[in-house]
Amino acid sequence: MATTLISGGTVVNAIGTGAADVLIDGEKIAAVLQPGSTLLGHDLAASVDTVVDATGKYVIPGGIDAHTHMQMPFGGTEASDTFETGTRAAAIGGTTSIVDFVVQYPDENILDRYQAWHDKAAGQCAIDYGFHQILSDVQDSSLTAMDELIAEGVTSFKLFMAYEGVFLSDDGQILRAFQKGADNGAMMMMHAENGAIIDVLVQQALARGETSPYFHGTTRPWQAEEEATHRAIMLADLTGAPLYVVHVSAKQAVEQIAEARDRGLNVFGETCPQYLYLSLEDQLGASSAEWGDFEGAKWVCSTPLRSKHEGHQHHMWQSLRTNDIQMVSTDHCPFCMKDQKELGVGDFSKIPNGIGSVEHRMDLMYQGVVTGQITLPRWVELTSTTPARMFGMYGQKGVIQPGADGDVVVYDPNGHTSIGIGEGRSHHMNMDYSAWEGYEIDGRVDTVLSRGRVVVDAGGYIGDKGHGRYIKRGLSQYLV
Ligand code: URP
Ligand code: ZN
Ligand code: ZN
Ligand code: ZN
Repeated sequence: MATTLISGGTVVNAIGTGAADVLIDGEKIAAVLQPGSTLLGHDLAASVDTVVDATGKYVIPGGIDAHTHMQMPFGGTEASDTFETGTRAAAIGGTTSIVDFVVQYPDENILDRYQAWHDKAAGQCAIDYGFHQILSDVQDSSLTAMDELIAEGVTSFKLFMAYEGVFLSDDGQILRAFQKGADNGAMMMMHAENGAIIDVLVQQALARGETSPYFHGTTRPWQAEEEATHRAIMLADLTGAPLYVVHVSAKQAVEQIAEARDRGLNVFGETCPQYLYLSLEDQLGASSAEWGDFEGAKWVCSTPLRSKHEGHQHHMWQSLRTNDIQMVSTDHCPFCMKDQKELGVGDFSKIPNGIGSVEHRMDLMYQGVVTGQITLPRWVELTSTTPARMFGMYGQKGVIQPGADGDVVVYDPNGHTSIGIGEGRSHHMNMDYSAWEGYEIDGRVDTVLSRGRVVVDAGGYIGDKGHGRYIKRGLSQYLV
């Protein structure tokens, strides 16, 4: 069993920071020590196999991205990152665990789909991985499958209020699934957009000749998100199920979540970097020499990017400080422009929905520390500790403490990262463009350990495909 000492750094946990050395023995953190500690008179640095010098750097628990879609079949194609390419990019960006969504389409057997996701991920991943289960049509068999999956460590289930005929569950189906969640302790996750409203607006826009990606945004208005978020909260309140609203983008939806939390409900919200930085006007409305006004397809995702004139981003950053929103995940769902996003030339509704960001979440959120929007411990809490607690991994993941997995990132605040596929920039996801081209990051992922194994050294990947293991999760540790 190899031993590693991460010495001279500033350890940052969600509860605070302090100068400390971190000793890792095999796969686990063995001790968090006063800087320069000796052990029974022995110089530790001379006794371990590897010393990582973290002087002047932050030592944080590895990032946990609790919302990814590797090789997801969706929108007539399949997300372009495999478990291999996506988890490698994640590792390079300082993320050491993902929770990916097992997809069930109507009439598909849920447990077969769950096994299919194991088959896709096994032996492929650079870092550890868990699964959420998507439920589309909710049948009696879906409810019994929920119990069986919890025993397998899949303790969270996503339902959709949009995408009729693909994922949509009606309110009665949602009610039944939530009743089951209230009974067995599962976390119920919701894609909260009113699909019926959106489908009419989309048809009307297309009939008017509004076919470019910009209209993906205008036909998914914040009212559709606020209404669905409210309805999901009412169903959670009625049944007693905990509710986690995914990819929140509208400030009005944040307000619904905040109000529910003020009433003491177990209601939680997740946002994503795209909703903190990107907008309807600047991205969905973009045009370029290469793609014309189809350029905006690069940023077609749902919920959509919001107008920069309505205060959503400002409010979202604030909600990260006040804990009205508890977590930042990526909703990593990459598609290339060529042959994938291109399916929607002349009809924005046929553009596969999704943005790829799994590599950049830690860097993008660290910019919130640089600009003074969030504190250093809050950065760790939003990107690692709360995801671990929310989804039943805390103690093993999400914290630098003895007994936890040796999932550690050494982050250099004086380093620099240029994001993009252009010359000299950083991009390792399997996509032919970057949604973050030209973003300049103050800070850099220096070293990454996954269960005690150095997988990124001086920013370069040195890990192994297949090192990543399935995380059998427990029930949420975040409930009030
Ligand atoms: O546009 C998105 N978000 N694609 C992924 C599927 C989902 O709804 O999370
Ligand atoms: Zn969704
Ligand atoms: Zn507010
Ligand atoms: Zn998603």
